[in-house]
Amino acid sequence: MQQKLNDFINENKSMIQEEMKTHMHNLDIPVRLKKSMLYSIEAGGKRLRPILLLAGFKAYGTNIKKVLSTAIALEMIHTYSLVHDDLPAMDDDDLRRGQPTNHKVFDDATAILAGDALLTYSFELITNDPYLSDTQKVYIIKLLTEASGPKGMVAGQILDMEAEKKEINLQELETIHTLKTGELLRFAIRSGAYIGEATNAQVEYLDEFAYYLGLIFQVQDDILDVTGDPDKIGKPVGSDEVNQKNTYPKLLGLDGAIEKKQYYVKMAKRALENANAETSYLMLLTDYFSNRDY
Ligand code: IPE
Ligand code: IPE
Ligand code: MG
Ligand code: MG
Ligand code: MG
Repeated sequence: MQQKLNDFINENKSMIQEEMKTHMHNLDIPVRLKKSMLYSIEAGGKRLRPILLLAGFKAYGTNIKKVLSTAIALEMIHTYSLVHDDLPAMDDDDLRRGQPTNHKVFDDATAILAGDALLTYSFELITNDPYLSDTQKVYIIKLLTEASGPKGMVAGQILDMEAEKKEINLQELETIHTLKTGELLRFAIRSGAYIGEATNAQVEYLDEFAYYLGLIFQVQDDILDVTGDPDKIGKPVGSDEVNQKNTYPKLLGLDGAIEKKQYYVKMAKRALENANAETSYLMLLTDYFSNRDY
């Protein structure tokens, strides 16, 4: 089973990276902007969101060409969110994906603009996709703006900032995690299934799964910020404590955070069993997200 997942991850990761490179290198834009965008795109990254999108797609569809631009667009938006998240005005981190953060290599203004460019270019990619119908494009863009914008990831980021140095309860923390991290993961699953032509009812079943998967992912991110090996995770350990962030380990202790994560895993798997599709990759990815050490 493990081999099946490893093969799935490795094959799709290379395909996504190739596709992303082609799209980026063909861009005729100001040199410094391009360098800065490429720097963060090529700095590594697990590419888990596009891989998840492909797994959601595979539960229902077959022609992989149909999902590629959406998968890449999602990874670009995720990368933009990291470039901005690391800025001095936000988490002020020096290391990302094992390399100096974008603003450290370039400067704050360039990092901000590279992030803006990755965000907007992602929508251009979807609108230019030759395999999707106009109806599909509009629906995907609707889902993506909701997931990444002021109702989604950006909302989570501001709530996360506002909660620094404050006491919040578990429910408030779940809301922050769901928005800042869960919404993009949810988009991956929903859009993959949608492009694979799942029915609305099937997409809705996957939604509950996606909710728990988002929590699992960010709880593990919080845990790794305490127990991780910086060489492996490619970002500093202890950043959350320095920034007085609210995290699962802070609220529940390390053991409590792990216990909560296991509960979310149970709930995610239960929801997936109800989805009534070929969800074996999504099932394997759930354990992978929960147990990852980077
Ligand atoms: C990090 O995401 C930011 C969070 C939402 C927790 P990833 O752990 O997927 O980062 P990369 O893409 O592999 O660098
Ligand atoms: C960031 O969460 C989530 C984003 C929307 C970028 P974190 O601030 O915990 O992510 P890391 O730990 O810096 O990757
Ligand atoms: Mg942050
Ligand atoms: Mg951060
Ligand atoms: Mg973190």
